Amino acid sequence: MQLVTSVALLSALLVRHTGVAEDTAFVTAAPHAGSATSDAYPPDGTTVDSVLFPPEAEVGFPGPTPTGVQPAAIQTAASYPYNRGPTNQFPLVAPQPHGKAETEEQFDMTKYWGNLSPWYSLSSADYGLPDANPLAPQGCSVTQVHLLYRHGARYPTSGAAPAQFADKIANATKDGLQVGGDLAFLADWTYKLGAELLTPFGRSQEFLLGIQHRQLYGHLLNNFTETGTIPVFRTESQDRMVKTAENFAAGFFGVPEYLDEVNIEILVEAPGVNNSGAPYYVCTNADVEDLGYIGSTMASTFVNDAFNVTLERLNSQVSGLTFTPTDAIAMLQLCSYETNALGYSAFCGLFSEEDFVNYEYYFDLSFYYNNGPGSPVAAAQGMGYLQEFVARFTGEYPEGWSAMNMTYDNSSTYFPLNQSIYADATHEVVVLDTLMAFNLTALFNGPPLDATKNQHENSFVASKIVPFATHFTAQVLECPAYQPTKQIRFLVNDAVVPVADSYAGCEANEHGLCAFDTVVSVLQDRIAEIDFDWDCFGNYTAEAGVDYNGRAPPKGTGGTSSSS
Ligand SMILES: *[C@@H]1O[C@H](CO)[C@@H](O)[C@H](O)[C@H]1NC(C)=O
Ligand SMILES: *[C@@H]1O[C@H](CO)[C@@H](O)[C@H](O)[C@H]1NC(C)=O
Ligand SMILES: *[C@@H]1O[C@H](CO)[C@@H](O)[C@H](O)[C@H]1NC(C)=O
Ligand SMILES: *[C@@H]1O[C@H](CO)[C@@H](O)[C@H](O)[C@H]1NC(C)=O
Ligand SMILES: *[C@@H]1O[C@H](CO)[C@@H](O)[C@H](O)[C@H]1NC(C)=O
Ligand SMILES: *[C@@H]1O[C@H](CO)[C@@H](O)[C@H](O)[C@H]1NC(C)=O
Ligand SMILES: *[C@@H]1O[C@H](CO)[C@@H](O)[C@H](O)[C@H]1NC(C)=O
Ligand SMILES: *[C@@H]1O[C@H](CO)[C@@H](O)[C@H](O)[C@H]1NC(C)=O
Ligand SMILES: *[C@@H]1O[C@H](CO)[C@@H](O)[C@H](O)[C@H]1NC(C)=O
Repeated sequence: MQLVTSVALLSALLVRHTGVAEDTAFVTAAPHAGSATSDAYPPDGTTVDSVLFPPEAEVGFPGPTPTGVQPAAIQTAASYPYNRGPTNQFPLVAPQPHGKAETEEQFDMTKYWGNLSPWYSLSSADYGLPDANPLAPQGCSVTQVHLLYRHGARYPTSGAAPAQFADKIANATKDGLQVGGDLAFLADWTYKLGAELLTPFGRSQEFLLGIQHRQLYGHLLNNFTETGTIPVFRTESQDRMVKTAENFAAGFFGVPEYLDEVNIEILVEAPGVNNSGAPYYVCTNADVEDLGYIGSTMASTFVNDAFNVTLERLNSQVSGLTFTPTDAIAMLQLCSYETNALGYSAFCGLFSEEDFVNYEYYFDLSFYYNNGPGSPVAAAQGMGYLQEFVARFTGEYPEGWSAMNMTYDNSSTYFPLNQSIYADATHEVVVLDTLMAFNLTALFNGPPLDATKNQHENSFVASKIVPFATHFTAQVLECPAYQPTKQIRFLVNDAVVPVADSYAGCEANEHGLCAFDTVVSVLQDRIAEIDFDWDCFGNYTAEAGVDYNGRAPPKGTGGTSSSS
């Protein structure tokens, strides 16, 4: 709704840094540095005039309209359309890191931004299936697809590190801040980001994801055509979540068809309200720092030493303030957020390749221990979606409880169990919680992440698993050559995730397939294994640096045994 695309912003973007010395001479910062803009569009009270500008249906003369058959690229394409390569993140401009010569191999910094990275296709080989491919294996056809996807690129959270940094610059500017060298641009830099909303690039990510899924799985719509129903696609109430689902639907169904061809269900996300997509609002322990934020603490400790070389350089180019490790992270985040929102950021070029590698590890620690194996509250929070997926697999409404909202999940209107295509939008933390709930341990193969240094011994990398528009897919397949013929497999951002090591009864399979009924039974065991009550409400303690498989230490081993 409130898109920041006004004349003021555009002219701010066009400001040239002429007159600002590019050498190390200091320049006094302009007094307006740090002021945030919030230019809502459209203007108050404006609306579409459908009399002067009638819709397509009223104008008529549509010309011939044969629709063709639904695409089914997942089983008709000769090769899979991966999201890879140097021109991958059109239309973003990402420069090379500080100190990188043009003659050296180019470095794609957008792959080192943790949860602020735009998604890109992963290789199944990274998770142990070198020969797997997202296309339906020879002879198999996809009969059902379940998609859980994250919103696209967004503005930062209100008052988060980037806005605080802008404040610090604004304060220092009043006191005569001077900048030079690499930092010269700061003299007339202003904070231009909004908060929380989906950015224009974020819209394109979801729109393209919708198009991609229509191409891959369009044939599954025939299932609805036969019954005369339309699907329910679910999302949540935050504005970026609604816009995410709408852009996905616009890509999938077309504009304006999406307005008529899908029911977009918006579930409230607010403290105390049950919603599988926002489990932290009911899982009390997720809010306890020593249980729900183990990763944040480890990540902040890690950054204390990680950016010394660059901070020394930057501090030599400024007078009137001293940049701290926290500021390094804030500036790196400004690099990511400004690029994702405005298309380009001068902050990116301040940092070296090594800095970006450390920036990624900061996110790796944060997510591994906040919402991955190192978190005692991850699996419990992912349990809502796990139960909902299992309900859709079995055609039976969920029993038992978690953060699910039974008012909705008990209704064939709001929670249909017979769709051939499901698409739920959520947040990255919940996608990761869900992967923990699904016990997809191949994504976290190796020892727990080292607190002080990336040992490269674990397959988990945050930018691969929790980037903008990340998506977790379950493909249900009919494979006549297999016994039983009904098979299932899981994918994350186009990588097929093997289940043989963590799912009892699933044999190693080069395509990542396992018998549908076996997987359902493993997942039912997993639901029984996760103690939502204890993990979310129990009085226990947890340690940093431990692989908990996303679950609280069992009663009696970590703290008291009373549930509070
Ligand atoms: C900026 O100055 C204001 C007013 O003195 C103060 O409240 C605020 O904490 C300062 N912000 C930062 C980031 O230093
Ligand atoms: C799903 O079930 C509902 C209620 O039984 C029915 O009306 C609808 O046609 C079915 N939809 C599909 C896609 O089979
Ligand atoms: C279920 O969701 C609705 C709206 O999304 C909300 O009003 C209601 O409070 C939720 N139920 C529970 C138990 O939180
Ligand atoms: C980085 O700088 C901090 C603070 O100045 C210092 O305590 C630390 O030893 C330095 N670390 C490295 C690895 O140089
Ligand atoms: C809401 O979630 C709580 C657990 O946090 C659960 O006890 C309760 O049954 C749920 N209520 C509904 C209506 O889903
Ligand atoms: C769900 O619906 C069934 C059948 O109407 C009912 O027996 C059950 O109590 C409902 N469960 C919840 C949690 O509302
Ligand atoms: C549609 O797909 C669902 C899920 O695979 C299945 O249960 C249902 O029977 C299908 N309906 C038709 C009419 O093919
Ligand atoms: C989940 O994975 C762990 C580790 O691979 C395994 O020990 C456990 O049995 C699995 N749980 C279920 C329900 O399969
Ligand atoms: C949790 O357990 C600790 C250690 O036994 C105890 O001191 C504390 O009072 C308990 N807290 C609650 C809320 O029960």
